[in-house]
Amino acid sequence: MDFGYALKESNGELTVNFKQKVVGWKRLASEMVEDKVVLDLKNAKKMIETKREPVVYEQYNLWKSIDRFKEIFKKTKIASDLTLLNFGVFSTSNEGELFSTYGHAHETECGEAYFVLKNSCFLILSDKKTYETFILHLKEADYLFIHPKFLHRTACDKKDVLFATFYPELAGHDYKIIKNRGFPFHVFRCKNRTKIVKNPKFKNSRYELIEKVKTRVNPIKLLERNPEKLKDILENPEKYKKIYFIGR
Ligand SMILES: [Fe+2]
Repeated sequence: MDFGYALKESNGELTVNFKQKVVGWKRLASEMVEDKVVLDLKNAKKMIETKREPVVYEQYNLWKSIDRFKEIFKKTKIASDLTLLNFGVFSTSNEGELFSTYGHAHETECGEAYFVLKNSCFLILSDKKTYETFILHLKEADYLFIHPKFLHRTACDKKDVLFATFYPELAGHDYKIIKNRGFPFHVFRCKNRTKIVKNPKFKNSRYELIEKVKTRVNPIKLLERNPEKLKDILENPEKYKKIYFIGR
């Protein structure tokens, strides 16, 4: 499927150049610190003071900008976005909490399809009720369906990462659920290794790091061939439970 961009990679840094104007927005590190969705606030604050205002990620709303995706949205109300999450740590050194998206939950019982277009990342899924967390180490071309029972956010791995998300407009984004507390577990990079750190604001939670995810239905192929079916899957996660990642 043509997403309408040319991608350049140099030293792990990705640059996305769209053939036409694409609407989007940027998330700054200072916003994430202000809202306390970063765990290591002390080092994150130091970073903001010493570095030029860093952009953590940028989101491109294809459904508002590119004809093909505008058409899909008009017919099915499925929104298609691309996110470029920069590699970085919330710290002045090269170790610390990895850059991540803000994270959110859906306001309704709708799912989301997720596809890694370039490089790898960690998708963090935390059960809204039990806080049980699954940290999925996703590689390029991995995909899955996120069940609405999960809070979800993406953390970078070793390079910038580009991923696509597809969700019904009626899913809604609840950011307040993350604000002032973050996630039960945050991903750090220390001594060249990934380290998972528990957030003390969440009691009795546990996590599992999953290196290989079983892929079932490719959402990009489905969006191309049968967007109505994708709509049905996204709007009825209980009916299509087998397609979704639901944990153990
Ligand atoms: Fe979502």
